[in-house]
Amino acid sequence: MKIIAATNNKGKLMEIEEITRNLDIVVRSLSDEGIKVEFEETGTTFEENALIKARTVRSITNAPVLSDDSGLEVDALFGAPGVYTSRYAGEGATDDENIDKLLFAMKDVKNEKKRTARFVCALAYIDEKGEEHIYRGECEGRLTFERKGKDGMGYDPVFYYPPYKMTFAECSHEMKNAVSHRSAALKKFFEDVKIK
Ligand code: IMP
Repeated sequence: MKIIAATNNKGKLMEIEEITRNLDIVVRSLSDEGIKVEFEETGTTFEENALIKARTVRSITNAPVLSDDSGLEVDALFGAPGVYTSRYAGEGATDDENIDKLLFAMKDVKNEKKRTARFVCALAYIDEKGEEHIYRGECEGRLTFERKGKDGMGYDPVFYYPPYKMTFAECSHEMKNAVSHRSAALKKFFEDVKIK
């Protein structure tokens, strides 16, 4: 089955490709399909934004479409940056700028047990019949006080995963993919559409 991944984010694409590599599914990126779109992330939840992206791409193609909207919820910041995760330091902000702003916002939270956070991933899937499906995955961790590790995407260098005693930027892709919010949501999707 061919599925178009409705994302321009290289980190997400790479993870989706890694997680689906041995499955009976071909994931094509927007650029593979020659699709150029800008997404208007006007939703107030990850699920709404995932649907907006999937519908935008589905309006240009008849193939099944899978989109990802994800981000970070920090308990000490009452769930922020949430749906603003990618533009936390402003529209077009780099990962480094976003991380700097987050570490600054957390500077007075000195107790590591109070620095709890979770990555959230909402996947929207529009199937061949045009029916819409939503899957959500979460991964609990803690914010570090400084960047650790060179690998990974986005906020990985400041997301410490306690069972591994490492940030997501320090562990291997296989380790991250075994427990991440994205793989948790993808597993629900695979089960639902019977992809093995
Ligand atoms: P979106 O493209 O609007 O869904 O924004 C997702 C935001 O969350 C971006 O800033 C990503 O860097 C960040 N993000 C999502 N998933 C991860 C992850 O697995 N690791 C690190 N950052 C992530």
